Amino acid sequence: MSLLEIRNLTVQFGGLKAVNDLSITIEEGELRCLLGPNGAGKSTTLDLICGKTDPTSGQILFDGRDITHLLEYRRAQGGIGRKFQVPSIFKNLTVLENLEVANSARGGVLQTLRVFTTPIRGRMKEILDLVGMVDLVDVRAGNLSHGQMQWLEIAMLLAQNSKLILMDEPTAGMTINETLRTAEIFQRLKGDHTLIVVEHDMQFVREVAERVTVMNRGSLLADGSISEIENDPQVKAVYLGH
Ligand SMILES: Nc1ncnc2c1ncn2[C@@H]1O[C@H](COP(=O)(O)OP(=O)(O)OP(=O)(O)O)[C@@H](O)[C@H]1O
Ligand SMILES: [Mg+2]
Repeated sequence: MSLLEIRNLTVQFGGLKAVNDLSITIEEGELRCLLGPNGAGKSTTLDLICGKTDPTSGQILFDGRDITHLLEYRRAQGGIGRKFQVPSIFKNLTVLENLEVANSARGGVLQTLRVFTTPIRGRMKEILDLVGMVDLVDVRAGNLSHGQMQWLEIAMLLAQNSKLILMDEPTAGMTINETLRTAEIFQRLKGDHTLIVVEHDMQFVREVAERVTVMNRGSLLADGSISEIENDPQVKAVYLGH
């Protein structure tokens, strides 16, 4: 069974079909890159998957369940995590406290009351290792570099037990070194986690993706390996040629 199945999904804003009869299937453990020119509907597709936007027609199945019209917070509880361009971290809390808050978000208010007394437990340590931030546990999030803030937010999605992580241009604004580190983190995440990553940096896409989906004007343009995509005449014409 696939982890995520999008079937003939459409969303219409006024006269514009921002996503138009889109079907995509994502397997568990996969890292899928989503490409396409500006306005192709990539961010809107992530909005539809996480529940920020309600589709006009079509279906979304997650883990075998129809979640097409499920509320956003219910999807988050069910394991769909969305990383936004401006990270939703608590700048006045330390790295560890941020992770504890994210972890407690799964269990409701009662759990939140006891989060700050716990030492770094097994899973938190694992997550910090994954994003390479073990040495930064006591640093206030507001003092982190731009790249570190992005990694912290990824770590928070992991602490929330997100099975499917959606990321919109995660390397935007990063230095070359931060981008390389991010690629390493993604390599470590895939397999155990499923990721959909919207990204314009083709070098980064080559580094991390096995399979790539290209959208144009709300519709699926091409789907395949990175070399298939890079040699596809239609993709070259609408996207890579620019
Ligand atoms: N809430 C909305 N209301 C009206 N139109 C919208 C809304 N959200 C997106 N759109 C339009 O839908 C189209 C797709 O937008 P979207 O942001 O999904 O594109 P994108 O592929 O993420 O582009 P970019 O690469 O520039 O981020 C655009 O024409 C956009 O203006
Ligand atoms: Mg976008």
